[in-house]
Amino acid sequence: MKAGFTDLLRCPSCGGALRCVVGDREGERIVSGSLWCDACGREFPIVAGIPRFVPAENYARSFGEQWKRFRTAQIDRFNGTTLSERRLLSETGLPAEWWKGKRVLDVGCGAGRFVEVASRLGAHVVGLDYSDAVDAAALNVAGDPSVELVQADVYAMPFAPGTFEAVYCIGVVQHTPDPLRAVAALAVPARPDAHIAVTAYERRRTTPLYSKYLARAVLRPLGTEGKLSLVRRLMPVLFPLTDVLFRIPLLGRVFRFAIPVANYVDLKELSRSQRYEWALLDTLDMLGPAYDQPQRESEVTAALRNAGVVDVRRLPSVGLNMVGRRAPVGA
Ligand SMILES: C[S@@+](CC[C@H](N)C(=O)[O-])C[C@H]1O[C@@H](n2cnc3c(N)ncnc32)[C@H](O)[C@@H]1O
Ligand SMILES: [Zn+2]
Repeated sequence: MKAGFTDLLRCPSCGGALRCVVGDREGERIVSGSLWCDACGREFPIVAGIPRFVPAENYARSFGEQWKRFRTAQIDRFNGTTLSERRLLSETGLPAEWWKGKRVLDVGCGAGRFVEVASRLGAHVVGLDYSDAVDAAALNVAGDPSVELVQADVYAMPFAPGTFEAVYCIGVVQHTPDPLRAVAALAVPARPDAHIAVTAYERRRTTPLYSKYLARAVLRPLGTEGKLSLVRRLMPVLFPLTDVLFRIPLLGRVFRFAIPVANYVDLKELSRSQRYEWALLDTLDMLGPAYDQPQRESEVTAALRNAGVVDVRRLPSVGLNMVGRRAPVGA
């Protein structure tokens, strides 16, 4: 992190200002040291250039492992596609011209696929994640002066209220213990009038019947390593099989529901080997997380409104994708 980043940070416990005690530096960047809250006496370490506000061991460990293993797969710069850029623009509803010079927060940034895009579009980006996926993101954006990362919890974000002009959170809230509380928390570090965007899994009547949930229950005892090794062993069979079944008109939809394999047969931009890697990654992403709690549109809308978000509307993405605006001062 750069020394100036301290000004944006606040103690996640009491909201107090933080004082940076520098350990090692590399050029302008502080690579080790700590952040002290004089108000409540807490200390937060800076490890590998990233402030850490949560314990290293936590429920999101599977994500850290997932993103370190498949670090570059979904990063546009490495895979030669514009898939992450198109998703960021469509799921925030903000056009490419909007981002230049804006201060934005990516909540649950994982390996940083959307951090990389936002920075490329000219924004000053902070990527926040609960897991050590932030270390994967750091490698993906190494040397980019427009990006800072923090390992922190959506429920206790370490920023002054009103810091960001946009807060977006893609594919995260359903993987937290209390998704609606996570949705509400997005408004806290947003400025009045700031743009807020969230994409979550949607809960429909048929959702509990989705084969993924049965597979998650059966495979729960295996742990991330066990699940990855199983997925790796089965994929040479499941990939070619689903490649045929998922393409069958109409019936393909039934097979996608009945076989929990993330084979994106419609993503023409990916080569077959890239699609295979995404299938490994996203099938693990289906089976690995401690929490997977899809949400209803009405509940996410209410959570946003109760948190002071106005003009709430749904965008036409694949998931439950809601956007709104933090209420202006005096509203
Ligand atoms: C499915 S990944 C999505 C990552 C990224 N947004 C993307 O779309 O590639 C979900 C991420 O949410 C993070 N996460 C889970 N619980 C969190 C919490 N309480 N606070 C912040 N991040 C959290 C996980 O560590 C994980 O990296
Ligand atoms: Zn404090």
